[in-house]
Amino acid sequence: MEPHTQAGMADKFLHFAAVECPQDPLYVAICLAVAEQPQLLALLQHAPSTQARPNLLLAALHERVLAGVKHPLAAYYPSVGGTRLPDAALPALLLDFARSQSAELTALLRSRSTQTNEIGRCAVLWPALQQIAQLTGRQDLALFDFGCSAGLNLGVDDYRYNYLLDAGGFSLGAPARTGQAAIDCRWLGELAPPATRPWRLSHRLGADPAPIDVNDAAATRWLAACLWPHDRVRAQRLQLALKQARKARHEVRRADDCLAVLADWLTHLPPQVQPVLFNSWVLAYFEAAALTKFRQQLAQLQRRHGLIWLSAEAPGLRPDGLALPPLAAGASASTLWTLQWVEREVQTNLALAWSHPHGAWLQWCAETLTR
Ligand SMILES: C[S@@+](CC[C@H](N)C(=O)[O-])C[C@H]1O[C@@H](n2cnc3c(N)ncnc32)[C@H](O)[C@@H]1O
Repeated sequence: MEPHTQAGMADKFLHFAAVECPQDPLYVAICLAVAEQPQLLALLQHAPSTQARPNLLLAALHERVLAGVKHPLAAYYPSVGGTRLPDAALPALLLDFARSQSAELTALLRSRSTQTNEIGRCAVLWPALQQIAQLTGRQDLALFDFGCSAGLNLGVDDYRYNYLLDAGGFSLGAPARTGQAAIDCRWLGELAPPATRPWRLSHRLGADPAPIDVNDAAATRWLAACLWPHDRVRAQRLQLALKQARKARHEVRRADDCLAVLADWLTHLPPQVQPVLFNSWVLAYFEAAALTKFRQQLAQLQRRHGLIWLSAEAPGLRPDGLALPPLAAGASASTLWTLQWVEREVQTNLALAWSHPHGAWLQWCAETLTR
């Protein structure tokens, strides 16, 4: 790595500490230590240029800790029961750890990208599917998860959702049972969830260019390593969801062109089934030209198969011409959930909900539905 590149990378770690993770004292301390240490900064030269970012190194270090490496650095990681707070000894321990794990860290940095599969989003996906059943009058829904990672969101109908209101709350989803992933979500704003009508997922399929195999211990450890070490709630529900996914065995396919997989899948669905294309935090990875192509191909599939598109992305990636819905108190413009369908050549776009990127809160926006 050239010296000027290393200085640039040090700045990225300082920025990450100040802006991305100020609420996590361990990650702040690690970022500050890495920024000061050329040998640690040099590790990122093993990563592809598009991936050479602080969170990739943080995840690689975390992965080694989760793998059970015996080293005093582990005492700082709550994810393995560590309770030691960042202190003056951390930079030297970090350097020693990185030296002792250099081959393993290099292999991770070369081959992995930061990847998550956030089932907290299912707290919005569940009422969104309910809305689609309501809208179409169809009971059987076929869910295609585009950019599905490990495919955990395909298990949306098997999790429990506990929605918290200012006073009280309500639950949706599968009946509560032990060993099941449960998601707490604050329900903001005035609008209620869509009316309950029976629906089921009769078909489901996930596709991703780099899917995570839920039966591959190293791959799922990487998924866990991409979470932050102090966030025990997300880590625990990830493990529960992985367990449920191993049992459910929903199909996930590796494909560079996931829309081609969708196009083929649609031709095999029975006519009474309502197909739904779902993507959450995937389109941000697309170049502008790829996004245009995605939209064009999608429009064809919508016309041909009555496909409904449910998209949960940054608001800038919403369907063209859709106005942003007003935000309720406590909400912010982070993830916008939208619906798009085509009927008799007329395209309709609807803003369904705002949500926290990991589903910690949601604000329902589909205005025909009042509580
Ligand atoms: C931030 S993760 C989100 C995973 C999952 N949708 C979720 O909500 O937890 C982004 C996913 O998009 C996938 N991805 C990246 N480029 C893609 C593409 N061109 N087509 C489909 N998926 C893609 C990545 O492999 C990764 O699994």
